[in-house]
Amino acid sequence: MSDTATPPDAVTITVDGKQIEAHKGEMVIAAAERAGIYIPRFCYHPRMRPVGMCRMCLVQIKGPRGFQLQPACYVPVADGQEVVTTSPEVKKVQDGILEFLLVNHPLDCPVCDKGGECPLQDQTFAYGPGETRFVEEKRHWEKPIALSDVVLIDRERCIQCDRCTRFADEVAGDPLIEFMSRGAKTEVNTFPDQPFASYFSGNTVQICPVGALLAKPYRFRARPWDLEQVESTCTQCAVGCRVAVQSSNDDLTRYLGIDSDAVNHGWLCDKGRFSYEAVNSDDRLGRPLVKRGGELVQTTWADALDAAGEAISAAVSSAGSGSVAVIGGARLANEDQYAWAKLAKCVIGTDNVDAQLGDGLPAEVVLGLPRATIDDCDTASAIVLLGPDVKEELPVLYLRLRRAALEKKVPLVEVASGRTGMTRYATTVVPCLPSDQAGALRKALAGGLRDQLGGNPVVVLGRPSLAEPADGVVAAAALLADIPGVRFLSALRRGNVHGALDMGLAPGILPGRVALDAGRDWFTAFWGSAPESGGLDTRGILEAAADGRIGTLVLLGADPVSDFPDRDLAQRGLDGARFVIAVDAFLTASSRQADLVLPAAMFAERPGTTTNLEGRVSRLGQKVTAPEVAWPDWMIAAELAARLGGDLGFLSLDGIWDEIVRVAPAYAGINRTTLGTRGHRDGIVVPVPEGTVLDTEMPPATDVTVGQERDAGEGEIDPVETPGIASVESHGVPVQAHDPAAAETAGPAAESDAEAAAGRPRPALIEWDRAASGTTAAKPDAYALRLVVGRKLYDNGVNVQMSPSLAPLAKQPVLRVHPSDLDRLGVKSGGVVRLRSPQLTTTITAEADPTLPRGTAALPFNVPGIEVAAMIDASKPANEIAIETP
Ligand code: SF4
Ligand code: SF4
Ligand code: FES
Repeated sequence: MSDTATPPDAVTITVDGKQIEAHKGEMVIAAAERAGIYIPRFCYHPRMRPVGMCRMCLVQIKGPRGFQLQPACYVPVADGQEVVTTSPEVKKVQDGILEFLLVNHPLDCPVCDKGGECPLQDQTFAYGPGETRFVEEKRHWEKPIALSDVVLIDRERCIQCDRCTRFADEVAGDPLIEFMSRGAKTEVNTFPDQPFASYFSGNTVQICPVGALLAKPYRFRARPWDLEQVESTCTQCAVGCRVAVQSSNDDLTRYLGIDSDAVNHGWLCDKGRFSYEAVNSDDRLGRPLVKRGGELVQTTWADALDAAGEAISAAVSSAGSGSVAVIGGARLANEDQYAWAKLAKCVIGTDNVDAQLGDGLPAEVVLGLPRATIDDCDTASAIVLLGPDVKEELPVLYLRLRRAALEKKVPLVEVASGRTGMTRYATTVVPCLPSDQAGALRKALAGGLRDQLGGNPVVVLGRPSLAEPADGVVAAAALLADIPGVRFLSALRRGNVHGALDMGLAPGILPGRVALDAGRDWFTAFWGSAPESGGLDTRGILEAAADGRIGTLVLLGADPVSDFPDRDLAQRGLDGARFVIAVDAFLTASSRQADLVLPAAMFAERPGTTTNLEGRVSRLGQKVTAPEVAWPDWMIAAELAARLGGDLGFLSLDGIWDEIVRVAPAYAGINRTTLGTRGHRDGIVVPVPEGTVLDTEMPPATDVTVGQERDAGEGEIDPVETPGIASVESHGVPVQAHDPAAAETAGPAAESDAEAAAGRPRPALIEWDRAASGTTAAKPDAYALRLVVGRKLYDNGVNVQMSPSLAPLAKQPVLRVHPSDLDRLGVKSGGVVRLRSPQLTTTITAEADPTLPRGTAALPFNVPGIEVAAMIDASKPANEIAIETP
């Protein structure tokens, strides 16, 4: 296992006559590699336990009986150890190992997807014998067979390195693939009737050192030498995994995980990995659409922007700026979000802006609590899970938490109403009734849990159920916030929702984690104006719209009809708004109903920055061009501002970033140069503590690789382009990418300039007043079942549904209830029940789940086959259903 921090107990070893400082406990292969001495390998992987299976790494290590051949991946370093990697003896065994590996290998390199980036191919050329003494018939298997919905295996090519099987068991906790049979018949396969149904299966393809494992969507689509790539950050959820984005002929072809020590350790979930299909989708919007005669028809940008400007102006002049509202923004890059926040809060003057769709936490709680990093979980005294099922919503965070619990032995306390993907790793489970997290936690803390949590716990805080308000979990967070040293990791799900909150896309919040009241004067000094009073959140906006109080509603990459927990309210809101503008990449259930649809660029189509759940700001890379005349969102905001007689004051992404650093207090000091430096390629967590010295060393453009250190897939990928040094053209509109080499415009001097310009000190960052939180759990109704609604990784969300490989993975749901509630009806687990809610009656398969409290029913949100959002009334403290025999 490789952790970058150098332990104090370093040892010195000699490799090929060169003295090397090594970390006690690390393997010879890793120590040599850090010193620039590459020892060939197949089974060794720095993120998994060594197995010493392939013997490719045999080197000579001096022991009591002189130099002996030993696997460098399996022998830990020891002080004074002498290692030889290039002797004739070593060369002879390398020849032998490769000759034996190739005895049965089909050598179908010309048609193998791995050809050109294959460690077996490369190492045979570099270390192999040149010719073989074996001429026997190769083994033959059916080519290829499916291991999972997205992974195929060509068993002839497998060299039995055990990487895929170890990954599935050790890293993902899904031991669903294994070696079967013996000798030449050995194969990797699944157990009968148990497919490799893992959210992380694509990682096995990336770490397979040959072309045995293949990603179905990538097979036969490209050759490595056709590919171009940039380094970027996945925005399918808020973890922010580092990815290499690859394309061929301006079409996305593949995402590969990059080994970011702080975030994803090289892993991606399958949703993130294959979501590029949605970007490539033929259903993407490429031209503005306007509603005429009840139909959306194509129009020009000029006419569309005129219509949008007129609608907003009409709303403001008839009922004030508060009659304009903006829902959404979490899909956008930070720069886009800042532009939209400035458009709404300064140019239009409305604070009715919310990037969350009634399914998250109050912005002041997320922004105002002390933050943890993902790495903090490894050294925390305990981790408290107080939120959703992280395996379903933030999959690579699940991998990191699982590792913290199993490898780092951090106690895991889960407060939940029923099992989640983490439950089996929990050392303590605090069962709670829905909405009563605070009550259950209070009792547990008084009963000894407080002592178990120790001095510096990390709380993973999110929304456990969409069928009840956030109050219960917020009240529980208030109890934990009293523990000295406690830090919080927000478990909000959407891609750049943390960036959106940081950029001010929330009611009562201004950019840079500043409360509206605290920052009004500061922002007025820069912007010219800021809202007079706090606005509405998404639920409030939809209620106001339903009452006819919203003249123009902007949906900024948001689909409330599918995504807001209360379907009826979302629909009434859209119906009640006089004019709806959707800025979107697809026609969704909501944008389809809009009066005007403005096509936006998606991930990989524009550069910028994003902020993950830790507050880590990292770069997005542009690799392909947006379809037709789709624009980056910031540009749409800038053009709209001009139509409204305003001026956002920037003409490029760099201009926006410089303004953010200057005026948004939490982002002070993160100038463009800093974000591009070698030491901050994994991003920078904001706010940067005062006195921190940030790296200033720029990597050479060719150093930005996803090779040995940066990629889980071992050097098979060409250098990554530095994201957007050049200005790229998008349909005649210049898009200025970040230029890390450009002049510094926002360093500390610029920050004090900002204070001078504002004539006042920078406003303080928001702190959550937890005294304001308080809730009483809704009382259960003895005759009904309390509804608990969580999310699944694969759902009806647009990115899943627009990715052909992922869409079929969204499954029909089952209703989970306590066994006694099924017994009461005389229905067996797996039987069908009739489900009644005040709004909807349907039939559904029910499954007994003894981990749920009695009187509780659990359903997933926004999945095929059932309209769960139609059963939720967002104004109620709890939602209930009844079940009966059909
Ligand atoms: Fe190794 Fe690939 Fe075979 Fe798995 S399929 S054991 S990763 S060669
Ligand atoms: Fe992308 Fe989230 Fe999956 Fe990471 S965990 S690959 S950020 S969707
Ligand atoms: Fe060491 Fe396989 S890499 S035995």
